[in-house]
Amino acid sequence: MTRVTEIGADIDPARFRTVLGHFCTGVAVVTGHDGRAPVGFACQSFAALSLDPPLVLFCPAKTSRTWAVLAESGRFAVNVLAEDQQEVSAVFGARGADKFASLDWTPAPSGSPLLARALTWIDCALETVHEAGDHYVVIGRVTALGEPSDGRPLLFHRGRYTVTEPVTDELAALMPWPRPDDWL
Ligand SMILES: Cc1cc2nc3c(=O)[nH]c(=O)nc-3n(C[C@H](O)[C@H](O)[C@H](O)COP(=O)(O)O)c2cc1C
Repeated sequence: MTRVTEIGADIDPARFRTVLGHFCTGVAVVTGHDGRAPVGFACQSFAALSLDPPLVLFCPAKTSRTWAVLAESGRFAVNVLAEDQQEVSAVFGARGADKFASLDWTPAPSGSPLLARALTWIDCALETVHEAGDHYVVIGRVTALGEPSDGRPLLFHRGRYTVTEPVTDELAALMPWPRPDDWL
């Protein structure tokens, strides 16, 4: 039987993580530059937000060292990771001295690092920041876009990396939403 948690009941942090982990996402690395060194962190909480004007969002922990740099510079880039970039995610998902040590990158128009072999990228200017519990909700205005890619994305589900199996054409034909990009 499905267990329903009462509204107002205390939420156990371990259970919160477990249940929310069922929501599968891609993995991005959000990067920036303070004029001296590149910074970046692995980020699941990235989403497209608005087409007109073109906005995206992500949610850094208040403790994020990368966020401190991005907040100061007012610029960031989002790198969408490919399925073979688990190691890149692991490096940027941990507090390391130089996360860029063994990685090639080039600057986006904003100067923020674009990681080699990422699927694509979104370059942004900081628009608004909302406080939300132990995180911020950061909204960015898109200023430049990378090229589309045929590569497959890295996914994160229930605390583990996973990769996609594309649906077959027959299955796709049964889906009721013929243009899945229509909502934006
Ligand atoms: C797959 C994955 C997704 C993550 N998503 C987020 C996220 O959305 N927001 C966040 O604050 N941290 C997220 N993290 C954790 C940060 O990447 C991690 O705390 C990192 O060490 C922060 O580095 P910084 O302090 O240099 O910014 C994620 C980590 C991984 C591995």
